[in-house]
Amino acid sequence: MRISVVTIFPEMFDALKCCGVFRRALESGIIDFMVFNLRDFTDDRHHVVDDYPFGGGPGMVMKVEPFYNFMDWYKSKFSSNPFVILTTPQGKRFNSDVARQLAEKEELVFLCGRYEGVDERVVNMVDEELSIGDYVLSGGELAAMVMIEALSRFVPGVLGDEDSSRDSFYNELLDHSHYTRPREFRGMKVPDVLLKGDHEKIRLFRHMERIKRTILRRPDLFLKRDLNLEDKKAIIQLVRLLAEGKKVEEME
Ligand code: ADE
Repeated sequence: MRISVVTIFPEMFDALKCCGVFRRALESGIIDFMVFNLRDFTDDRHHVVDDYPFGGGPGMVMKVEPFYNFMDWYKSKFSSNPFVILTTPQGKRFNSDVARQLAEKEELVFLCGRYEGVDERVVNMVDEELSIGDYVLSGGELAAMVMIEALSRFVPGVLGDEDSSRDSFYNELLDHSHYTRPREFRGMKVPDVLLKGDHEKIRLFRHMERIKRTILRRPDLFLKRDLNLEDKKAIIQLVRLLAEGKKVEEME
């Protein structure tokens, strides 16, 4: 998969390339990642990328020409027709489903906005406008990094264990708790059920935790879910524990 970004702060993306899962995906060649400086696609001597807004108002607007120059150059260089994303707080909300859909594309280009916004004509050559949440960042770079990191986890081969991408939200339930050694730390104990090796019970315990967390923290996700048999069994056990005045961790 090829992912490209155009930005006025290419160096910000060093933070994405440097470490962890994404770095390994680059090293193994599963993801081909390129970052381009928007200023290299300006037509003037001073490499100006912004200008005053027509109609007045505060702040500056990112100019239309550099984005079009970049896309013209990109398409002729790679003879391709990538899926183009503009990062903007006005976009559709990015989530795990969007990440999975994007991971299926062969080629993505992220255009990062800055200042008060980008000239609306940039939107005409974009396939999707995406936002990572209801807050305004000073630019789209961090948002692009969040999206690229999240979607790359769904690209086959990026995670060693394919199952690891089946984490929170994949199945519209939040994740269960995780523990490693020591068994006890400052009086806080690892739940007994995880130490006993009964895999059926561990599965039930984890499913109960996922159901409980989702109901308490994200009832909106829980309401969207079609309950399966495993869910129903977990709910029965949860209610039983509740009736006995016990916590999930106290499951026998
Ligand atoms: N640019 C500024 N804020 C943003 C956000 N919340 N999501 C995507 N791009 C942005």
